[in-house]
Amino acid sequence: MQYFDLTSSLSEVETYLKEKGLLQLDEGVITIEKPGEGNMNVVLRIKTNRQSFILKQSRPYVEKYQQIEAPIDRIAVENEFYRAIQNTALNAHTPKILHFDEVKHILLLEDLGTCEDMVTIYQKTAISEKELEKLISIAALIHRAVIPKSFPDNMEMRQLNHQHIFVLPFMKDNGFSLDTVQNGLQKIAEPYKKDEALKAIIHNIGEKYLEVGDTLLHGDYYPGSWMKSDDNLYIIDPEFGFVGFAEFDLGVMAAHLILATSKKKYLKKIQSKYEGEIDEKLMTQVAGIEIMRRLIGLAQLPLERTIEEKTKLLKKAYKMIML
Ligand SMILES: Nc1ncnc2c1ncn2[C@@H]1O[C@H](COP(=O)(O)OP(=O)(O)OP(=O)(O)O)[C@@H](O)[C@H]1O
Ligand SMILES: [Mg+2]
Repeated sequence: MQYFDLTSSLSEVETYLKEKGLLQLDEGVITIEKPGEGNMNVVLRIKTNRQSFILKQSRPYVEKYQQIEAPIDRIAVENEFYRAIQNTALNAHTPKILHFDEVKHILLLEDLGTCEDMVTIYQKTAISEKELEKLISIAALIHRAVIPKSFPDNMEMRQLNHQHIFVLPFMKDNGFSLDTVQNGLQKIAEPYKKDEALKAIIHNIGEKYLEVGDTLLHGDYYPGSWMKSDDNLYIIDPEFGFVGFAEFDLGVMAAHLILATSKKKYLKKIQSKYEGEIDEKLMTQVAGIEIMRRLIGLAQLPLERTIEEKTKLLKKAYKMIML
């Protein structure tokens, strides 16, 4: 059995889990559900009569858009990331790894239970001080982790992200009509696609993104990777993790807080609370690029804003990049 999905028979999944020594003799699979929204991978919640697991499997393509190829080893990166931060204070903020199957590209993770990802902040247009402080301190803990020598360079995933962050959004003819997202969006994006000075800065930071750095990064530090329970905050989905520069994670985090709230103050807040040396200009520029690419790139967010509001956000982002 190569792949499991929502239509797999309970007994097949049960046999697999038993083979891996994950079930007790009297334990059986009762249900298989989808735990939440995701695009890239197969993610299943498997409930037995004793416990509940999360099974995540990478395939050689994007699960939701199966004609798009994707690096199969991304699940191994996720596994390596969780292993690198094991036995640190991050234990309290990440799911435990229960099993990794290198052959079938399956990671079995602790089920975090009733959690909700934080993409709701785009509608709420706010984040609590407590949550913000947690997110900053979790980022700092990740960035302080001791990096195993064998940590994968994750270059294929970075190349993919590089295209979507630094290249395609700023290409004139990228084959993606922004008016299909929202009428008028194409027009407000055009000046940025033509601005050579802006594009030169973005190009250079894109090159830096592809270099080897000295800091373990989550690589996708945005509300879709932040999970909230009643009394805790968790970080999941480190498949874009790599050894790079801290300003990347921090800039991306700031960008999403600014997109959600329209307030630039989050840059300063993060800079003042983060425990570690950072290049504030670089972080601000990364944030500006992330804001722009989320507005005029292919990876759109559930962000309902008028064209006027998006125009203002783009102007803000432009200033941040041209700092
Ligand atoms: N350990 C966990 N415990 C509880 N729920 C989880 C866990 N891991 C993932 N989920 C749920 O499953 C969803 C998808 O998981 P994840 O983001 O890891 O998948 P993905 O395919 O990489 O998604 P994306 O395409 O957004 O990158 C999450 O948003 C969350 O709701
Ligand atoms: Mg993912």
